[in-house]
Amino acid sequence: MTWHIASGDSMRSLLVMGIPYQHAPEVSIVRTCSCACSCSCLLGATICHQGWQSCASCHPDGRVDGLNWDLLNDGPGNPKNTKSLVLSCQTPPAMSLGVRGSAEEAVRSGLRHTLFAKRHESEAAAIDAYLRSLRPLPSPQLLKGALNKSALRGKALFESTRTGCSTCHPPGLLTDLRSYDVGTRASYDKLTDKFDTPTLVELWRTAPYLHDGSAATVLEVLTMRNAHDRHGRASNLSRRQLDDLCAYLLSL
Ligand code: HEC
Ligand code: HEC
Repeated sequence: MTWHIASGDSMRSLLVMGIPYQHAPEVSIVRTCSCACSCSCLLGATICHQGWQSCASCHPDGRVDGLNWDLLNDGPGNPKNTKSLVLSCQTPPAMSLGVRGSAEEAVRSGLRHTLFAKRHESEAAAIDAYLRSLRPLPSPQLLKGALNKSALRGKALFESTRTGCSTCHPPGLLTDLRSYDVGTRASYDKLTDKFDTPTLVELWRTAPYLHDGSAATVLEVLTMRNAHDRHGRASNLSRRQLDDLCAYLLSL
């Protein structure tokens, strides 16, 4: 993974911090893109105004960089944790506040407002095709492709009325595509903010969690960031049951 980062003021501040940077490649894979090569559009930093970042700077491998970014699509001053693009086309709306109706809409606004680039529609369509081609990778927690004993117990808990997890994260995509206030708002969020229920597929590789990355682990999602059981009933679970639930979540 090559990182193409920062020019101008941001490059100067990175230099001050001693972080190495790399110039955008001289040959533009985007300019020669015939759109059979969908992923080039996502990976090429030259697509960006001044060539200093690409979609993959924040979405390496179409997944996450683990950082929070204050994008302007939901207004300034409320940074959000980068979301994985796996299943994003199948799970509208897009963005944690659902400010984009679909991943396709997010692709076009990302080109314009995050990369500051006016690009041909064929390139946006190529990125759509790349996003749709992303397939979840099996979790390393699986044993020969199957849930281990602890994860199996966790699955039963997840699907039980005792926790209520699968009401909002039903089998399949593990999201009901609706937005809720599950008590996870923090000081940067508005009092009216509701968050789009995310898919839980590939959780094992998308830490930290929640819209603002405020939970370092899935256990923290269920405990530290789940006051009054507003985000599934977890306070009545024993430590072992919580571990089982986490084993299941990290196997998805
Ligand atoms: C500076 C970092 C950054 C760059 C560059 C970036 N993204 Fe994102 N992307 C994010 C963050 C952060 C989110 C989550 C925003 C939110 O939840 O409100 C996101 C969310 C998305 C989503 C919504 C996923 C979902 O299921 O809700 C899509 C689609 C997306 N980005 C595509 C792109 C594309 C395509 C590009 C390049 C044109 C791009 N992004 C460039 C940081 C970035
Ligand atoms: C009322 C609907 C609802 C219920 C019930 C629910 N969730 Fe969620 N879940 C959400 C929403 C909405 C979010 C996004 C919250 C945020 O980003 O602040 C979320 C986020 C998560 C995340 C973080 C995902 C990520 O990528 O950051 C995990 C893990 C999770 N839920 C697991 C569970 C478990 C386990 C249960 C049961 C104990 C549960 N959820 C019950 C709606 C629900």
